[in-house]
Amino acid sequence: MEPFRFHLFVCTQQKPEGVSSCPASGSVEVLDALDRETQASGLNQDVQLTTCGCMGLCDEGPVIVVYPAGVWYRHVKSADVAEIVSAHLRDGRPVDRLMWNDAPGMKAMSIEHGEKFRAAMAARDKAGVLPDHLEGMIRGFMPSRCILTALELDIFTAVGDGANAEQIGTRVHANGRAVGMLLNALVALGLLSKSGDDYKNTRESARFFVQGSKDNQRNGLLHTANIWHRWSTLTDAVRSGTRMPIDRDTTEWTHNFIAGMQRNAKDRALLLVKALGFTGVRRILDLGGGSGAYSIAFAKACPDVQCEILDLAEVVPLTAEYVSQAGVSAQVRLRAGDMLVDDFGSGYDLILMNAICHMFSKEQNREIFRRARQALSPNGRLVVQDFILSPEKTGPQHAVLFSLNMLVGTDAGASYSESEYTDWMKDAGFHEVQRINLRGPSSLIVGVAK
Ligand SMILES: C[S@@+](CC[C@H](N)C(=O)[O-])C[C@H]1O[C@@H](n2cnc3c(N)ncnc32)[C@H](O)[C@@H]1O
Ligand code: FES
Repeated sequence: MEPFRFHLFVCTQQKPEGVSSCPASGSVEVLDALDRETQASGLNQDVQLTTCGCMGLCDEGPVIVVYPAGVWYRHVKSADVAEIVSAHLRDGRPVDRLMWNDAPGMKAMSIEHGEKFRAAMAARDKAGVLPDHLEGMIRGFMPSRCILTALELDIFTAVGDGANAEQIGTRVHANGRAVGMLLNALVALGLLSKSGDDYKNTRESARFFVQGSKDNQRNGLLHTANIWHRWSTLTDAVRSGTRMPIDRDTTEWTHNFIAGMQRNAKDRALLLVKALGFTGVRRILDLGGGSGAYSIAFAKACPDVQCEILDLAEVVPLTAEYVSQAGVSAQVRLRAGDMLVDDFGSGYDLILMNAICHMFSKEQNREIFRRARQALSPNGRLVVQDFILSPEKTGPQHAVLFSLNMLVGTDAGASYSESEYTDWMKDAGFHEVQRINLRGPSSLIVGVAK
């Protein structure tokens, strides 16, 4: 039984550079083209597209197998996809010129490849070579650092519609030889293309990294570049148990930080509003509201809602800009203050703590929860959104790494587990405490004030 008319397997096995493989011959582009073309032809309900690992036929890639008939294609290019979709998947006529029918030859090639591969692995193991996945993890900072430096120097904007290394170096006030090396690395990483001496942005770089583009995320990503500097202090932070002092331009740091928060919160705010609803919600306190993304989403979803954002004095002017741009200033009030000491007020239906608790120690969070309980009306809800650790605190990976991000970036912050949040809420006088998983890496813990 086949739930789909056709099931396509496209080999996307990554191999070390210089080793022949389907991705090195363009299988990922072929997969994208197949996805686009089947959607465009209205065949996506009949065709299941799946990636698969190496089939031992790497020199003949990209290799695709189409079931149930077991038709094998080799050397497929993106330009062949329209024909495969219309002739084979729509009309049921496989494309002869791309088919590979030599079953005994294919089998022999695949078996030989498997034997060679296993022998090479055994030899490496015997010689004590570090496995690729460890090597990759250890050197993982290099690509990241290239992109962050390019963003810091605003290289992608300087590339514009195309320029050579000298022109780009002059535009970013940096050494031409070194800029050339960085540009070449960005080409190798797939973030630029090069033709002759000229570099061009890829579609993604032009969209996300160039100033003036509608979806430009450079400011928000510069927050990650700031975090980089903190992460280089990890060894000392682990020794001492808290963050190390580092020099930074506070104004620029805050600007990038809030842009980074806005980047993260933009989509999540809609998910959160949907998950919580706003029935019975009239007054919201948004603790550490940052860019105001969550209050803005509530204000837009419900004209009767009034929000109050409490954030640090240096952040509130930036929040005001985001709120004003969103056109909801009449519904969102801003208050400069310190949530650890300043009065919260009273009579709220909802108190939001989005990406807040990880900045603080357990004791500080317990105290905030206690004061939040007092500030809520009966049946009002306290909502925590954060990266929640598993009970053993060894996963998910994102939450575990984020905990270290807080070690290097705060006095006593960390990621916490669901049971920690639940205990703090219950001890503070909340009941019906529940976890709501949103799409993506963070979840909600919601408690109702007794
Ligand atoms: C990680 S950001 C989260 C921003 C926002 N809630 C979001 O999810 O997009 C933390 C926010 O808390 C603010 N903040 C940090 N310490 C604070 C304090 N003691 N009192 C008030 N706000 C604080 C920061 O300025 C920042 O806007
Ligand atoms: S990498 Fe595709 S068959 Fe080996």
